[in-house]
Amino acid sequence: MPIPSSPTSVEANFHTDPVTDKLEALARTVYTSGALNNHFYELWTSGRLTPRQIAVFARNYGEFNRAFPEVLAVMISSTRNVCAQAEYAKTLYSEMGYGNPGKVHSVLFDSWLVELGERLGIGQGFKWIEIEREVNVLPETYALIEGEKRLYGGDNAAGAGAQLALEWQAYTMLRKLYDGAALYKPLWDAEDAFHESCEYFYAHIGATEKEHKVESLQAARQFATSESSLKRVEEGFNEHLQMFEDFWNAIAREINSTRPH
Ligand SMILES: [Fe+2]
Repeated sequence: MPIPSSPTSVEANFHTDPVTDKLEALARTVYTSGALNNHFYELWTSGRLTPRQIAVFARNYGEFNRAFPEVLAVMISSTRNVCAQAEYAKTLYSEMGYGNPGKVHSVLFDSWLVELGERLGIGQGFKWIEIEREVNVLPETYALIEGEKRLYGGDNAAGAGAQLALEWQAYTMLRKLYDGAALYKPLWDAEDAFHESCEYFYAHIGATEKEHKVESLQAARQFATSESSLKRVEEGFNEHLQMFEDFWNAIAREINSTRPH
């Protein structure tokens, strides 16, 4: 999904029905939402931050990252719809590095972070254990994680809507995070080494997130079987996007209040 400016249909060969069309139209509203247009992305992509400010981002995003497999597991265990379970299981499997612990997404994120810290001259200062000790998690981060578990663990249609929001904003989220990370590229001696450090981002802006988009649309379709269930999909979708907007803006506020040193 290199989507942003002129998103095209998810898959040329993905035949849709009217309800899927409605769901896809809903999904595309992520691009104009505050979840993807917020103060954090402006800060992150407009210039380099100090190590302390980066740590604020890393602590909160890292917490969200770590909780994501748990959140997906809640979703799988909250439905008996086999098709939806299979779709969510695929997403979880890729999130968990296709069974390779070294490729679990939170592990890849931690690796990038440690290498960035080294290039910034703070040694192992960005090891997760250090970040965890040094920076507090913001209430909005817990609200996002707990809100996801509540949405995913409750009504199936609302949960599917929440997942639709997550997966459709994910590609642009990761692309923007990568754009900001690329501002630090000159700190690496060799350009190839920088790209090797960025495996976390490439795992998302490659095929993976594209597949998750289709999977989340297919899963939502399983539950959008009536006017009222379609409405609940929309509610779960919008609530989740709002939580993302609050999460990112809270991180931006905290970064702005963190004095450079
Ligand atoms: Fe991921």
